[in-house]
Amino acid sequence: MATLVTGGAGYIGSVMVEKLLECGASVVVLDDLRRGHRAAVNASVPFYQGRVGDRQLVQSICAEHEIESCIHFAALAYVGESVTQPKLYFENNVEQGFALLDTLVAAGVRRFVFSSTCATYGEPTKIPIDEQHSQRPTNPYGWSKLIMEKILQAYDDAFGLRFVALRYFNAAGATTTVGEHHEPESHLIPNVLLVALGKAPYVSVFGNQYSTPDGTAIRDYIHIADLCDAHLLALEYLQNGGASECLNLGNGRGYSVNEVINTARRITNCEIEVRNEPPRPGDPSRLVADARKARAVLGWNAKYTELEAIIRTAWDWHRAHPEGYEK
Ligand SMILES: NC(=O)c1ccc[n+]([C@@H]2O[C@H](COP(=O)([O-])OP(=O)(O)OC[C@H]3O[C@@H](n4cnc5c(N)ncnc54)[C@H](O)[C@@H]3O)[C@@H](O)[C@H]2O)c1
Repeated sequence: MATLVTGGAGYIGSVMVEKLLECGASVVVLDDLRRGHRAAVNASVPFYQGRVGDRQLVQSICAEHEIESCIHFAALAYVGESVTQPKLYFENNVEQGFALLDTLVAAGVRRFVFSSTCATYGEPTKIPIDEQHSQRPTNPYGWSKLIMEKILQAYDDAFGLRFVALRYFNAAGATTTVGEHHEPESHLIPNVLLVALGKAPYVSVFGNQYSTPDGTAIRDYIHIADLCDAHLLALEYLQNGGASECLNLGNGRGYSVNEVINTARRITNCEIEVRNEPPRPGDPSRLVADARKARAVLGWNAKYTELEAIIRTAWDWHRAHPEGYEK
């Protein structure tokens, strides 16, 4: 019996694989490596390079490894790219995601943990955002994740699939072995640290006239170790017969872009040059999670509640891996 981790060579997926191994679980990884890194996955883990929508491949993995649950991270996740290339996002995140789910259900898998996102909420009408908040995505990426949530519900109604859709806010930080290396990098914290490392000349700040105390956008940062702990608890919850749920994962506290940059300046002891750019279309001014439901349902609690501690782990990883993962 094993857990299939799709996107296990990506940023969050590779930490999940690490955690599952620590718990003594059997893990199998499926990743097409279009955005991930083979070096991020322990060489002892069965690894399949392929797309999640490859039904034959998924069928054979299920048969060979007796897959009983799946954690589905594999997706494209750049908001801006989804606006200019919607087809790419609907094909990869919805068509491929649906084929994966359908093949797994046909193979008898009934437990599924899904990487959803706060982008399914769109422009918030109240802060913090709880799970009852209306879901009106403002970009194809958010839509692709919301459509997958709806498909999961339909498969629960029809076939008794049990799922937990975890709506992450901003994943950040690193473990000692696994860190963030996206190409191109769109996330604020690694981009700030790349400037401190001398790998980039400046960090772009998109919008400084928002209606926030310092004018820059506010986000809720959650450490990847806390995020992956929640996935372990979600698997356990489903194993114990829990009903399907959609749960927010965040710290419940927002930090502005300027606060992130100033904290990174303190940690790295570097002057980090900033370039102000126009706000990106569809970027809300504030996104802060109300994650009380995840605490109540899963018994989850974040260990990294301070931005400083989160950035420190990322800085340690970036200093140890200035070129990111080996090619
Ligand atoms: N990073 C965040 O802050 C954040 C926030 C909210 C939600 N999420 C979601 O979490 C998940 C993981 O995010 P991440 O930051 O680790 O992304 P990532 O790009 O680092 O990892 C995704 C992995 O999936 C693989 N992949 C993509 N499409 C595939 C396909 N069709 N078949 C096989 N493999 C495929 C990529 O090669 C990559 O290794 C994504 O679903 C993302 O939408 C991330």
